[in-house]
Amino acid sequence: MDAQTERRLGDEVAALLAADTTMMTEREYRQPVAHYIDRDHLKRERDELFRRQPLVVAASAEFEKTGDFRTVELDGVSALIVRQADGSLKAFHNVCRHRGTRVVDEAGGCKPTFTCKFHAWVYGADGALRHVPAANAFGDIDRADHALTPLPVAERHGLVWLGPILGGAVDIDAFLGPLAPVLADLGIDKGSVFRFDQFKEELNWKLVVDTFLELYHVPHLHAKTVGRFIEGRGGIYERFGRHGRFLAPRKSYNAVRDLPPEERKFTDHIVGIHRVFPNAIVVWQRDHVEFWTALPDGEDPNRCVVRVWLISPEKTETDPDRLRWEKNWKILLGTVMSEDFPMARTIQQGFHSGAQNHVVFGRNEPGLHDFHDSLRREMAA
Ligand code: FES
Ligand SMILES: [Fe+2]
Repeated sequence: MDAQTERRLGDEVAALLAADTTMMTEREYRQPVAHYIDRDHLKRERDELFRRQPLVVAASAEFEKTGDFRTVELDGVSALIVRQADGSLKAFHNVCRHRGTRVVDEAGGCKPTFTCKFHAWVYGADGALRHVPAANAFGDIDRADHALTPLPVAERHGLVWLGPILGGAVDIDAFLGPLAPVLADLGIDKGSVFRFDQFKEELNWKLVVDTFLELYHVPHLHAKTVGRFIEGRGGIYERFGRHGRFLAPRKSYNAVRDLPPEERKFTDHIVGIHRVFPNAIVVWQRDHVEFWTALPDGEDPNRCVVRVWLISPEKTETDPDRLRWEKNWKILLGTVMSEDFPMARTIQQGFHSGAQNHVVFGRNEPGLHDFHDSLRREMAA
C-alpha cells in the first residue's frame, strides 16, 4: 500500500473507531432468499458466471517446476493444469480424446507425460497426443486433432485463473481492472503454499463469500476466537470494479490510531479481505495470506465445494516456522469451520422454512451490498 493510501485509510478507520461506528451505506439492502435456494437461479449462475468467468483455482507456487500438475474439479468439469518447459502454464479438459475417460485421477504431482488408464493413450505435458497403442487400429487418425482440449488459464500476482470454461481467452489484467495493483501488492507470487484443503459444505456458495464481508458478527459469533483480536466496527469497504476490498481493523489499532501516520503503521493493524469476482476471497494477514474459493456442487443450490490455501511468505523449512503456520491454519479453520459455517448451515435451512422471502443487509454491511450488486450486474450484462 502506498503511503498516501495508507494515510487516507488509516485516518478513515481511526475516525470510524473514534465515533464508535463503521462504514455505512445510504440505505439497507433486501436480498431475496430465492437467490440461495432456487435451482433456476443456480442454473443461471452456472451458465452466466461459473462457465463464463475466469475463476481462481490455484496458487502459482503449486507449479514450481516443469511437469508439476494439478487437477481441479470445477462443478462438473475436470481440468488438468500443467507447468510447461517454457515456464508458462497450460490447462486442458481432463478428458481422454479416445473414449472420454478422465485421464488424470491424482490431485497433483509431477509427470513428464499423462497416460490414460483405459487404453493407455499417452499425452505430453503440452497436451499433445504422443502415443496410441495398436495405432494401426485407428487408420490415419490425425494426432494433432486429438490433443487434450485446451482451457484458458492465466497467472497473475501469484494466483492461477482457469476459464472461461466455455472458451474465449480473457485478458486477466482487464478483468481485474483496479484490483490488479492491490493484488500485486500482496506479494503472493513470492510465497509458498503451506497447506491446501477442500471440503463439501451444505451451504449455497454465496454464503461462504458472505461470511467474510461484514464485521457486524465478529464480537458476537466470534467472541471467544478472532473477536478477541479483530474489531467489530471501523471496517472500510471499497469497490474495485466487479471486485472489492474490505479492511478490518485489529483491536491493536486503537492504541496507536491517534499517532501521526508515520508512527501508527496502519497496515500492521488490519486484515485485508479482497473479494475477487465471482467466488474468491483473498485474506491478507500481515505476515501471510489465506485464500478461499466457493463453487456450486452440482444442481443443488444447498451444496458447495470450499477450497482454502494458506500461503506463507517463504518455504517452511524449520520446526518453529512449521508450528507457527500450523497454528495459523488451526485458527483459520477453527473460526470458519467451527463457528461461521455451522451458523451458515442454519441459515441455509431457515431459507427453506418459508419464514421470509428476503433477508436484510444493514447499512453497516456494505461489503454484502456490493458483492450481491456485482453478481446482479454481471448476470444482467
Ligand atoms: S479412453 Fe483413454 S485411452 Fe481409451
Ligand atoms: Fe466470521
